[in-house]
Amino acid sequence: MSNNTVTITDNRTGKKVDLDILDPTMGSSTIDIRKLHKELGLFTYDPGFQATASCKSDITFIDGDKGILLYRGYPIEQLAEKSGYLETSYLLIYGHLPTPVEYHTFVKTIKNHTMVHEDLKMFFNGFHHDAHPMAIMVGVVGALSAFYHDSLDVNNPRHREISAHRLLAKMPTIAAYSHRRAHGLPLPYPRNDLDFIENFLYMMFSVPSREWSVDPIAVRAMRLIFILHADHEQNASTSTVRLASSSGANPFACISAGIASLWGPAHGGANEAVIRMLEEIGTPDRIPQFIARAKDKDDEYRLMGFGHRVYKNYDPRAKIIRAACNELLETMDSTNTPLFDIARELERIALEDEYFVSRNLYPNVDFYSGIIFKALGMPMNMFTVIFAMARTAGWISQWLEMMDDKEQRIGRPRQIYTGVKMRDYVDLNQR
Ligand code: ACO
Repeated sequence: MSNNTVTITDNRTGKKVDLDILDPTMGSSTIDIRKLHKELGLFTYDPGFQATASCKSDITFIDGDKGILLYRGYPIEQLAEKSGYLETSYLLIYGHLPTPVEYHTFVKTIKNHTMVHEDLKMFFNGFHHDAHPMAIMVGVVGALSAFYHDSLDVNNPRHREISAHRLLAKMPTIAAYSHRRAHGLPLPYPRNDLDFIENFLYMMFSVPSREWSVDPIAVRAMRLIFILHADHEQNASTSTVRLASSSGANPFACISAGIASLWGPAHGGANEAVIRMLEEIGTPDRIPQFIARAKDKDDEYRLMGFGHRVYKNYDPRAKIIRAACNELLETMDSTNTPLFDIARELERIALEDEYFVSRNLYPNVDFYSGIIFKALGMPMNMFTVIFAMARTAGWISQWLEMMDDKEQRIGRPRQIYTGVKMRDYVDLNQR
């Protein structure tokens, strides 16, 4: 860190304070405001944390203007082309690409934890038959903390590691069960002869009455989606995991909080919202009226799958997944539905229309992942669940990093109070 400073002067009093400027390895410099309140009695106001760093992190780097995304320094393009989901997870968690021995040990460990306690399966019976799988995920992942008292000491690094492995390994099993219970299908045991993605597809789609075989096209597309979604630095759900964990809460409860945050349509729920939007549009001739609504200042309607808080140029994940999406639509017999024609036309308009171009509203990763899931026959309400499974690697990496960070404090934002000034209570009979 350099010793550069910025001086803040309170023009009301003339008092000054020198604040350190912290230089990251890459990206924007940051003012350390911690002594601002102590010296000037001032807080800072930044709704939505648009200009505030909440932590130091070695895990993921994003340059939104240049469209760069790095996991532990490795470009997402290289990982998408060469790596697998578990290797990427190892990289995120441990900070380096595994040696062959480290990799095989890690894969074996994860496979050892894929089953869930038989009693945990009872939970799935307790939900309403049409419960959204994300609602089930929030409940059941949180409930894992009731099963693993042996490793819940968050101050013990080995306990933390075991919890991390359990979360990564059990997420696909819980996710698949949340889908199967809603459809009255039996809950299969995980198959450790399959790889991580194949096993998830097996638990989702196999039925006891017929042979199940791996679909390499589906596995390839899903592998890509898992790697692209594995981490994205301090987004809403990751910040939620960090904030929840900052009190020392157990990781299962905190990841459950992250899942709840991810569910929102402005975050992970966007891929499901994309397909609902395409279905609502219905036919290509209705596109102009929806574009008009999206541009209308008096209408809150937004095109789902367009725009991004951080990527104001283009989303590098969208660039990678767009190619995979087009490849998939060409190889699969799913192009005969108007949904994909509408998607292509929306994409074309957004890339040419002045409103979208001037605001840098490009199709984001959710736009294409939603279309890929639909083409693969994935139930719509499972889209965000898959995002949650993939992001688990990032959530636990960020949680592990936070637990080791000596500068971390319990998360406790301040506020600008805008309510009524102090006043006296009035007795009920005098009001
Ligand atoms: N459709 C139409 N107009 C939009 C859209 C959209 N999807 N997104 C932003 N705009 C417009 C805004 O109205 C605003 O216009 P103005 O400058 O004339 O007022 C301008 O673009 C900037 O928008 P902001 O809301 O300030 O951008 P912000 O960074 O706060 O929001 C967000 C980003 C939430 C992703 C937004 O673009 C959005 O709601 N998109 C649709 C939902 C979506 O796809 N979410 C997925 C995000 S990616 C992920 O979670 C992996």
